[in-house]
Amino acid sequence: MNELEMPKHVAVVMDGNGRWAIKRGLERTAGHEAGEKALMKWVHEGVKLGIEEMSFYTFSTENWTRSPSEVRFLMDISKKIMRMIGPEFLELGVRVKWVGRRTRLWKSVLSELEKIQNLTKNCDKMTVNFCINYGGRSEILDAITSLLKEVQNGEFSNTKITQKQFKKYMYNSSMRDVDLMIRTSGEQRISNFLLWQLAYAEMIFLDDAWPDTDGQTLQQCIAEYNRRTRRFGAV
Ligand code: FPP
Repeated sequence: MNELEMPKHVAVVMDGNGRWAIKRGLERTAGHEAGEKALMKWVHEGVKLGIEEMSFYTFSTENWTRSPSEVRFLMDISKKIMRMIGPEFLELGVRVKWVGRRTRLWKSVLSELEKIQNLTKNCDKMTVNFCINYGGRSEILDAITSLLKEVQNGEFSNTKITQKQFKKYMYNSSMRDVDLMIRTSGEQRISNFLLWQLAYAEMIFLDDAWPDTDGQTLQQCIAEYNRRTRRFGAV
């Protein structure tokens, strides 16, 4: 893989856990458990390949409409994962950042997120953004709300704002623009994911369900990314 150009930021919509499980006669939640294993494989591969930042869409602002038991399961598995990955991420040099809205997110999940963020804050090989209780539109609206507060307090008095200045108000102000977005499981849409940061991302849609993917899948996506020509609006 060495001769290939690495995308600096890869964002992933881990879709198809539920369908994967149902197809096997299992509960949907078994799909999320299998999905957790795939996630760890992608993180390991990302570090190996030298990718600087990866974002995973873990729970969207729309996912609250799922059954109460599935929501509870997703909150619980998030906590479990945050508790489990600490030592492994420290050894890998992976820094965790939470990206999302506080309102409604379980306090116990927030507390685990704070712990893992704190534990890994000096890791500098790769940053993993967990997008939990995340929505792209909410992120933009929350950024505007923070900006309006500054305007009201007299801390922001310009009549124009640049893209660079606006980024400061996003959930993770140091998040890079996404170079490559990958979505599994056949659906070809963005589903309110990183709307601002995806502006010039290359997109790859895979038919495989998320639990059926692994590090090799990521490698194949990088190879495809290298076959694309990125023009950023130029000719
Ligand atoms: C999409 O599949 C997957 C999710 C909504 C949850 C993904 C969560 C994990 C893999 C656990 C990881 C958690 C953390 C905190 C890292 P779906 O349920 O929408 O599948 P379907 O489209 O087949 O119904």
